[in-house]
Amino acid sequence: MPSLLEITGLTRRFGGLTAVDAVDLQVGAGELVSVIGPNGAGKTTLFNLVTGLDRPDGGTVQFEGQDVTGWSAEKLAGRGLARTFQHGRVFANLSVLDNVLVGAHTRLRAVRPRMGGVPGIAALAELALALVQPPHVTREEAKLRDEALAIIALFGERLAPRIDHPAYSLSYANRRRVEIARALALQPRLLLLDEPTAGMNESETAEMLEIIRALKTRGQTILLIEHKLDLVMQLSDRVVVLDNGRKIAEGLPDAVRNDPAVIEAYLGHRHVGEVKGETEGETKPEAVPA
Ligand SMILES: Nc1ncnc2c1ncn2[C@@H]1O[C@H](COP(=O)(O)OP(=O)(O)OP(=O)(O)O)[C@@H](O)[C@H]1O
Ligand SMILES: [Mg+2]
Repeated sequence: MPSLLEITGLTRRFGGLTAVDAVDLQVGAGELVSVIGPNGAGKTTLFNLVTGLDRPDGGTVQFEGQDVTGWSAEKLAGRGLARTFQHGRVFANLSVLDNVLVGAHTRLRAVRPRMGGVPGIAALAELALALVQPPHVTREEAKLRDEALAIIALFGERLAPRIDHPAYSLSYANRRRVEIARALALQPRLLLLDEPTAGMNESETAEMLEIIRALKTRGQTILLIEHKLDLVMQLSDRVVVLDNGRKIAEGLPDAVRNDPAVIEAYLGHRHVGEVKGETEGETKPEAVPA
């Protein structure tokens, strides 16, 4: 499988702490790769480095054969990387539909040619288009709306009856669904999901598993961070395990589950996970199932 994403020696230090320590990771087109590891292992930091929210101290990120190390988040989004956040990020005052349309517009901005190379001209042109609304713009908007509605429909009755509701009025689980819908509106080549089921109950988690499975079946390439190992084992083509910033294991789900180093990492940190879970409302990592 050709590598869509190729991370080599990626490193990020915060003072004396090496949060991501010389990590190598590849994701092939169509693959679902999970990144697991105890709290503080460096999973989210790794996502931040790949999606341009943070810059590495060392190493490289290649995407579709191009070195994209240190690119801005916006440029990477335009290139086809979309992500969701561990603690969920939606535009609280926008409706469900508008939240998803933001994703679609991000994509359009990236493909529209820049005008004249003169700063400000592109923004002015955007404003003029918005005010005048020539027929091609109206058609484009209608197409985007249809696309957004089709994405929202993936989440069935959870979101479809609520397209006009402001995001702040939604349940926590629904806000997380909206965030994923917005990421999908980017038509990402690579979708990065940071704990998409955090804070969800058992049936919501099972629903999310089916949605991720459906995305995978459609050929969506996914890099997934998840503490719920049962879900990871069911969905992943490959699992990468981080501990203290280092990759300590990688392989097929079954092999990783039975890897002594992985069991040790999880059991050794379980108390830390529980404390964090109680105090910060985080999902605690489950022990590796026997
Ligand atoms: N901006 C920052 N400044 C200083 N330290 C940071 C920063 N971001 C992360 N860290 C530290 O880096 C380490 C890795 O954090 P990270 O959030 O990547 O872990 P994680 O694997 O995502 O954990 P969790 O499962 O709890 O989400 C932690 O020790 C964390 O405290
Ligand atoms: Mg995290």
